[in-house]
Amino acid sequence: MYGKGQLPVESSFGIEEEMLSVAYVSSATSKLSQEELIELMHLIREKNPKVGVSGMLLYCEGHFMQVIEGPEEKVMPLYETIQADPRHDRVVTLFEETIEERRFKEWTMGLRQLTARELEQVSGWTGLREAADRVDREDRANRDAVYELLMTFRRTMG
Ligand SMILES: Cc1cc2nc3c(=O)[nH]c(=O)nc-3n(C[C@H](O)[C@H](O)[C@H](O)COP(=O)(O)O)c2cc1C
Repeated sequence: MYGKGQLPVESSFGIEEEMLSVAYVSSATSKLSQEELIELMHLIREKNPKVGVSGMLLYCEGHFMQVIEGPEEKVMPLYETIQADPRHDRVVTLFEETIEERRFKEWTMGLRQLTARELEQVSGWTGLREAADRVDREDRANRDAVYELLMTFRRTMG
């Protein structure tokens, strides 16, 4: 399974094999209230640990950005379920990559709601969808920018 000299990745989730990280942006079909967001978060926090999925979800003025990471065979079906969720549409995949180590292991799913102003201060973007607009033009640069943005908000989650 592992090549000579290679060790399986170990984390709070135990020994892990091929892992996938997928990120997207989408738009809420109707603006979510605070209660609806909290309800969604409760559902996510209950379900993700059961399948070993971690990540981060940002919500900014009607748009989502999420990264989900975990075992490939869990992440892909979950991503399909999420894409079909009627609470949002215009889902654009930002990237899909295999990873050796989780970036968000302490968070089964972090949620951060932010204002356009906060987003602009951190990323220079005028909205989360700007990441989607860049997908075709850039790639690696965009991926790094997406991770950096998510990491910045993760760090401020206490
Ligand atoms: C923006 C967004 C992000 C979501 N993220 C997750 C997630 O990380 N994990 C999850 O299980 N469901 C997530 N969901 C919910 C799923 O789309 C789906 O409603 C849920 O998994 C179905 O759960 P159930 O079959 O137990 O009702 C998300 C939904 C939205 C709108």
